[in-house]
Amino acid sequence: MTTAIKTIAFLGSPRKDGNTELLLQSAIRGIEASGLQVKTFRLNIMNIQPCQNCGGCDETGECIIKDDMEEIYHEIRSADRIILASPIFFFSLSAQTKIMIDRCQSFWCEKYLLRKPIIEGKYGRKGLLLLAGGMKKEIGIQCAEATAKAFFRTISVPEHRTLSYLGIDAKGAILEHPDALKEAFEAGEKLAL
Ligand SMILES: Cc1cc2nc3c(=O)[nH]c(=O)nc-3n(C[C@H](O)[C@H](O)[C@H](O)COP(=O)(O)O)c2cc1C
Repeated sequence: MTTAIKTIAFLGSPRKDGNTELLLQSAIRGIEASGLQVKTFRLNIMNIQPCQNCGGCDETGECIIKDDMEEIYHEIRSADRIILASPIFFFSLSAQTKIMIDRCQSFWCEKYLLRKPIIEGKYGRKGLLLLAGGMKKEIGIQCAEATAKAFFRTISVPEHRTLSYLGIDAKGAILEHPDALKEAFEAGEKLAL
């Protein structure tokens, strides 16, 4: 039996039906057009403690905090496609997104200290980064991109595409953008290949 491409998505915006969520929904529709399913983690409503830098994962590559990250660790390991969607907050990723990323320090230990990167399946591992910022300052995108790049590298996603939109502030403003939702849909379609 052949297994389908497995895609997971992280929604880092607290705003329900906000710009980031609309972008993510379009990308998901693009993936679903190929008959694939996407499991979405709405980070804002999950119980995820911030990394304590306790060293608990140094020798094992396993975090000792028991919360909703346990499911995320499991899903990241077996995912072929990973979408990270975040608004720009204070020139970077949202706190909800960053807390989840910091907890991936256990993957960093596993990959770089224990020399055991996540092995990719037959579909490879690819990422998609979706960003929406209210201001028109590139620095927010650059900082968010740098952190997301470190995240993808740490969880052994060697390539990712970024779609970022600036000047998108009011709730639903992304709907007025001429190309954003179409581009997100197409990025989703490509991710399913
Ligand atoms: C706490 C906070 C900080 C923000 N900081 C920035 C910023 O540094 N740069 C920027 O472009 N927009 C900033 N914004 C605006 C949001 O990025 C913008 O409203 C975005 O569309 C929100 O996406 P959402 O609807 O998915 O939540 C900030 C908004 C909030 C609430």
